[in-house]
Amino acid sequence: MPVNHMPNGSLSHWPSNVGILAVDIYFPNMFVDQTDLEKFNGVSDGKYTIGLGQNQMAFCTDREDINSICLTVTKSLLDKYSISPKDIGFLMIGTETIIDKSKSVKTVLMDLFAESGNQDIEGIHATNACYGGTDALFRAWDWIESSSWDGRYAIVVAADIAVYASGPARPTGGCGAIAMLIGPDAAVVFDRKVRSTYMAHVYDFYKPDLSSEYPTVDGPLSNMCYLQALDKCFQLYFEKANKYLQGTTLDSFDAIIFHAPYCKLVQKSIARLVLLNYLQSSENQCNDTYNQLERYKNIKLEDTYSDRELEKLLLTLSKPTFQKKTDPSLMLPRTIGNMYTASLYACLTSFLLSESLDSLKNKKLLLFSYGSGLAASMFSARISSDTSPNSALAKMLKVVSDIPDRLKSRHRVSAKVFEEALNLREKTHNSAPYQPIGQTDNLSTGTFFLTSVSDKYHRTYKRISSEEK
Ligand code: ACO
Repeated sequence: MPVNHMPNGSLSHWPSNVGILAVDIYFPNMFVDQTDLEKFNGVSDGKYTIGLGQNQMAFCTDREDINSICLTVTKSLLDKYSISPKDIGFLMIGTETIIDKSKSVKTVLMDLFAESGNQDIEGIHATNACYGGTDALFRAWDWIESSSWDGRYAIVVAADIAVYASGPARPTGGCGAIAMLIGPDAAVVFDRKVRSTYMAHVYDFYKPDLSSEYPTVDGPLSNMCYLQALDKCFQLYFEKANKYLQGTTLDSFDAIIFHAPYCKLVQKSIARLVLLNYLQSSENQCNDTYNQLERYKNIKLEDTYSDRELEKLLLTLSKPTFQKKTDPSLMLPRTIGNMYTASLYACLTSFLLSESLDSLKNKKLLLFSYGSGLAASMFSARISSDTSPNSALAKMLKVVSDIPDRLKSRHRVSAKVFEEALNLREKTHNSAPYQPIGQTDNLSTGTFFLTSVSDKYHRTYKRISSEEK
């Protein structure tokens, strides 16, 4: 346990270096290739792969639901890092994949703690499109830094099954779950006092039809809202950084990591940061980038969202920064697709995987989280300087190092099989009683799957054991 208690029961120190100590990801063992989907949907070659920047998309059949993917990733985190269930005092889920309007996924996850006898675990869930994972993370971080903290760890689970009705949004789906252990003396340490938030009421993407898994989405509006929220969070983040992290500029960050609905939007976002940075600091600058932006120095941000000429210039100017500071974080979103709440944290995991243990030391990260509707935040973190073999960072890298092999061993299925799986989910969503019919042979060891839904909507799950493989 990370903490010393004083004789009167209070903590001997305020927790320091709070952040992420451990991470694991679950993604389904099946994917559809976006080139197959382009052909199947009769769109022009390159529309999904180049136009949206997506290579593959993970999906699941009726055998998996939000409970099962959260069970899978949480159990995997506990096992792979040998975390005792008794050491957890807070567990919160971020998801927008809702199968019950009252009973939370968190309560289902309590099954993983039952045997240990630990039922003293705070936290329920957060829902607002892709932002819930970040809200859960902020709540866990706050709990650790609060007077309620008793020295135990927190777990945050961000998970979603991202499915869209057939049409232009469908190739921006995906499925994934991330579990993170939060506590002091972390591998990825959050910066205090600088998180910036922007929230507003808009109907860009929402799920008003409770009988359907699909969102109602205004794609172009959602893209604009994302960029607008980025502008606001960036400006506020740097106002705060000027006060509390003096000397911090955009150049201070080694990695700039975004929520990734599709990778092309992320590329446009880093491009936008070049403009925001210029507008914020143009007076002191004189270099090629700044000279090329000179004519935009008095532009109003609200006039720029559909300026294609400016977008093209920014994409060119930002290319080296994108390649160095953001592209490495897109490995998982490109091959899994949008994971909604899990997306930003899958990007963070991709970044960790792209570097060696020693090169990660002290790296500074800027993160942007967006959830339609809308809620967005920018925050920052630094990687620990402790890279000794028993450090949290070394353990974390060891655990996530199997991800490339896990991705390679997935089954590529045809676009027709993918469509059939989505049709089945669509027809049977929230049916009761229901007996799932999806094959279980494609599920990997350790995956929880749905065995039945009773006439009272009770869901039962089983876990694939190594003997079954
Ligand atoms: N080769 C290369 N590029 C191509 C091709 C081709 N053959 N065909 C089209 N493209 C490009 C287009 O030029 C366009 O590029 P641009 O964005 O630079 O203009 C891009 O592909 C997308 O094509 P469009 O026709 O503009 O858009 P589409 O109708 O395919 O819809 C959208 C894209 C809006 C992203 C849709 O997939 C969607 O609604 N997704 C869900 C909403 C979403 O993800 N929003 C983001 C923030 S909210 C969130 O996180 C959920």
